[in-house]
Order: sequence, then C-alpha cells, then structure tokens
Amino acid sequence: MAARTSRLPAFYKISIPERRAAIAEATGVPVEEMASCLAGGGLLSEVADKFVENVLGTYALPYGVVLNLRINGHDYVAPMVVEEPSVVAAASSAAKIVRSGGGFTAETDAPIMISQIQLYEVADREAGRAALLAHQEELLAMARYAVPGLVERGGGPTGLEIRTLGDDMLVVHVLVDCRDAMGANLVNTIAEALGDRVAELGGGKLGLRILSNLCDHRMIRVRCCVPAEALATDDLPGEEVIAGILNASRFAEVDPYRAATHNKGIMNGIDAVVIATGNDWRAVEAGAHAYAARGGTYGPLAVWRRAEYEGRPALEGRLELPMALGTVGGTLRVHPAARLSLQMLQITSAQELAMVAASVGLASNLAAIRALATDGIQRGHMALHARSVALAAGAEGPEVEHVATLIVEARDITLEAASRALRALRANPHLSAGLSVG
Ligand code: MEV
Repeated sequence: MAARTSRLPAFYKISIPERRAAIAEATGVPVEEMASCLAGGGLLSEVADKFVENVLGTYALPYGVVLNLRINGHDYVAPMVVEEPSVVAAASSAAKIVRSGGGFTAETDAPIMISQIQLYEVADREAGRAALLAHQEELLAMARYAVPGLVERGGGPTGLEIRTLGDDMLVVHVLVDCRDAMGANLVNTIAEALGDRVAELGGGKLGLRILSNLCDHRMIRVRCCVPAEALATDDLPGEEVIAGILNASRFAEVDPYRAATHNKGIMNGIDAVVIATGNDWRAVEAGAHAYAARGGTYGPLAVWRRAEYEGRPALEGRLELPMALGTVGGTLRVHPAARLSLQMLQITSAQELAMVAASVGLASNLAAIRALATDGIQRGHMALHARSVALAAGAEGPEVEHVATLIVEARDITLEAASRALRALRANPHLSAGLSVG
C-alpha cells in the first residue's frame, strides 16, 4: 500500500534526523534502515566496483523526497536524486496544488518492450515478410524458450511486427511483456536468440539485434485538474495564472526551442525519481525525446488546457510518454539506496513506479511554467541559493532560514552579507527580517 500520508507541513524546516523520523512514520520504513542505506551516499566503493570498470570511488548526489503527492487516490512519498536547487521544493509545492483538485490520475499500458532484429541487403522484401509472418508462431516459441524465467513470471513475447525501411531493410520487432523488469537484458537476449532464424526466413544479411528505447507500447499517461484558486499567487488571481500557463503550453506546442526547455522541466522530476530507484535514466530520456519528435517536429510531452473542476474554472494538464522502468533486477539488486527508495514508495509493480515518476514530471512542469508565467523562476531560486549561502557562512539549524530571509530581504545574497547577518542574529536572536544586515 502507498504511504499513510505524504502531507508533512514544514518538513523543510526540520533537521535531517527529524525528517527521517517523519518519513519513517509516514511510510513504515525504519529510521535505522534509512540511515544505513543512505550512509556514504548509499553505495560503498567495494559494491560500486562490481557495477562498472576502473572504479576509484563513488560520487554522491542529494537524496530528497517529494511530498504532497497523491496519485489515483493514494499518497506516495517519492524519492528524488537531483543536484539542482528548487527541483524537489517545486515538485512538492505543485503536487500540493494538484492535490486540491484530487491529485493525479495515471494509467499505463502493459510493460511491453520492443526487440529489434535488422536485416539488410534483403533481395525480396515481400517474400521475406511473407516467410516471417508464416513462421510467426515458431519465432514466438523460440523467443519464449530464450526467456523461461520471464515466461514463468507471466511475461514473455506477445507478438511480431515487421517493417520495411530504406531501400533494402526488413526490421522485425518482437514485442515482449517484461513485467516488473526494465527489460533490456531480456529483450536483447531474445533478439540474439532469434537473429539467425530471422535472417534465414527473411533473406539478406543479419544486422543489429537490440532493444528499442522508443518503447511506445509501454506508455504512461498522467492527468491533473487544478481549480483556478489553487494556482493564485500573492500578486495574481488564479484565472490570470491559468492564462499565463495556457500561453506557456501554446509556446511549447509551436516552438521546438521552447518545447525542449518545457520537456527539460518535466524530466527534472522524472529523472530524479528514475535515478533514486536505480533505473536507467538515459533510456528514459532517449525514449521521451524520441517520442516528443514522433510527428517529425519536436513537441511538448505535456500540454495544458482550460477546464472545469466541480463547476469552477480550472486548468487541466496531460502528460504522455513511453517509460521503461524496473522494480526487479539490474542495479536494484545491489544498490541499497535504490532498494530503500522502492520500500519508501511501497509500490507493487514497475508500472506503478512509472506512474509515480510521470506524476512527479507533470508536477515539475506545472511548477516551472506557473513560476515562468508569474514571478519568473529566479525569485524561488534566489531563496534557495540564500539558504546555501547562509550555510556557507556558518549558520546552523534554525539560523539557516533566519539568515537566508535576512539576506533575501536585504537583496544582498553574498557570503559577506550572510556572515554579517549571522553575527547580528547571534547578538540579537530576535532580529527580524526587514532589518538591514548592512
Ligand atoms: C530548469 O531546470 C527547468 C525550466 O527551465 C523548465 C521550463 O522552462 O519549463 C525552468
């Protein structure tokens, strides 16, 4: 089952041990487990040495959580691994806004991957296609034989597609239900097992045998509907924010330059969840961008439209993209922090994980374009930057927020200003924001 709650107000203000205790309470993951899985960045050098070659050590990134996330009526605490300030806070704050409209609704296709087998210099492609189709059952049986474990788990090959490309190519797609695996190894095994027989039947030379990362049979669709009042800012009513967001969506729909940045904002959320759960983010990125360009022009993965929520003006967002994630095998088996992430999410399938990642992507997109359509993003960034400057100046615990507020108010986000503010604060703990720190 999903988390007991993902609403943890003022979470960002408490210390790391207090946050771990709150997440333990919300998700049931023991605090000691969190501490041990995240120690040393979640991966020991000796373990990393088994992952890749020529290892010298490991490279850690911040591990945070998105709060307020509600998907299909369940709460999730979703882990995010990301180095960019604001991404976690922005996704959490957009998820809170979306929650006021009932949260995200998500659905997925079956976890079908494509195994590609390429033939080239095929003399008679029509005859080749006919022979391959006539032996479809034999090929599927060979494919099943190549992945017995997957078949036992209820997955396996489900069909064949045959495409003609260029002047001389025949490309066979074996569709494979990978269940809770990302599927790369399974699908590559099938491609290699079938290659020679496919070449025999189709004629021509056997070329590449590998998965396709454009896994468009494995689509995730997420939707949210947000009442206008939930989008209002200090300076703008909700209706005006909707107008700004519609404009942002339209811009991305007509301009690939803007669509790339719009989609980068979506991938800020998706990649962070994908990385935190030990999945292959390059595969997800490759699939997302190929899908964004499927019509011949690069476009946005998420679009926004005017809508109604319980008879009131609202904004509807829809995100659609292919996504291949796994909850078994690969990195997950050996990476303690990735296992911790899955435990925290309390998901039961790879499809559910993909719905969470996509929802965080749509939340990230909403946060970005709402900020761009109103205050711009620099204000929020500055506030976060001020916190790191306060830390660098030596502020501790509650002093961090206090010093950050002082230097933001003074519009002087520098180490010198933070040091002055810290000295002043320590001399007068009641120093309030708005006073000069000069
Ligand atoms: C920055 O990481 C992401 C944004 O540029 C996304 C966007 O412009 O929509 C803010």
